[in-house]
Order: sequence, then structure tokens, then C-alpha cells
Amino acid sequence: GNTANTSMIHYWKYFALGVGYTLLITAIAVIFGIVLGILFALMRLGKNKVLHAIAVAYIEFIRGTPLMVQIMFVYFGIGMVVQIPALVSGIIAVGINSSAYVAEIIRGGINSIPVGQTEAARSLGLSQGQTMKSVILPQAVKNIWPALGNEFISLIKESSIVSIIGVSDLIYQLKVVQTATYRGIAPIAVAMVLYFIMTFTLSKVLSHFEGKMKHVG
Ligand code: ARG
Repeated sequence: GNTANTSMIHYWKYFALGVGYTLLITAIAVIFGIVLGILFALMRLGKNKVLHAIAVAYIEFIRGTPLMVQIMFVYFGIGMVVQIPALVSGIIAVGINSSAYVAEIIRGGINSIPVGQTEAARSLGLSQGQTMKSVILPQAVKNIWPALGNEFISLIKESSIVSIIGVSDLIYQLKVVQTATYRGIAPIAVAMVLYFIMTFTLSKVLSHFEGKMKHVG
């Protein structure tokens, strides 16, 4: 008869591995997304018309196409030229996707500071760079930081789509456990709870830091 162990606890290593991959993909993609996002935000805010147009096209195109298609495009598209592991493709695609959202977070944060602030700083003799560094950015980060935290939380959930190219994240592992146990619902419920633990914990950690930041500057 069927002797497969169907207890979810028995498969904890699969779920742990899935959580590990999900956090790894998210963490690297978020860093990658922030670096690229700053670059595109500055390009979009800058005076150079060509760079501005490139940034607008990039941001709108990335935000206007599904992450799922971007993941497939990176994996199979780049795969035609050089073979790269699904994990690396997944991280690149999620990072690129995030960069477009991060660019808008940063642009929004900077634009939320009234022009009067710039005018006052400039009339006091500060250069454009000094104004940005000592007047605009210190105020803008107060809006940018919480929004970046939300983006991090979104990516924990959104990264689940990398399972379509075979990256062994939490969704992938849940399917492995379904196959091994012949149980349809229990592995889904476990994955769901694990996703919630990840997002809820991160949200608590981030709001702790946010609370601390209120007393600075
Ligand atoms: N699921 C949507 C999509 O496929 C949203 C992606 C959100 N991405 C992000 N970096 N916040 O496009």
C-alpha cells in the first residue's frame, strides 16, 4: 500500500528550503532594485532630455508588463545566448521589476518636498547639489523609507511567480510536498502561513525602525 508519510511536519526541510530561497531572491532583488531604481529616478528627474526619455520608457514599460512575462523573457531570452541558472534569472527579473517601482517611490518622495524649500535654500546661497543633499533628501527619506519597506514586503509575495521557471522557492516546494503526500490543501495552508509569518515579521521590524527614525533629524 501507500506508505508515504503525509504529516506536514515530516516535510519541514522542504518548507524551510523554500522560505530560504524566497528570502534570498527577495533580499538580493530588493538591493538590486534600489540601486537601479535610484539611477532611473535621477535620470527621470534630471535635465538631460535623452536620459529622461530612457528612464520614462523603462519605468512605464516595466510597470506596464506582467512580472511573470518579464521572468520568462529573462530566462528564455537570455538563455538563447548564454545559459544562466533559473535562480539567477529570477533574481535579475524581480530586481529589474522592482527597480521601476523603486524609481517612482524615490521620484515621488523628492517631488513631495515643496519647491519653496529649494527656492529658500538657493536664495540662502546653497548650490543645487547642497540643496539636494542637506535640504531635500533629509526630508524626502522620511517618505521614501516606509515606501521602500512596503516594496520589500510586496516582493516577498510577488517573487512567488519565479516558481514558473523552476526556481525552488516556497511555491515550488509546496508543489513538491503535494506530490509526495498526495495532499492538496495542507501544503498550501502551510505555505500560506509561512508567507504570512515572513511579511508580518518584516512589517513589524520595519515599523520598529520607522519609529526610531522619527526621532532623528
Ligand atoms: N503582480 C504585478 C505584476 O505582475 C505587480 C508586480 C509588483 N512589483 C513590484 N516590484 N512591486 O506586474
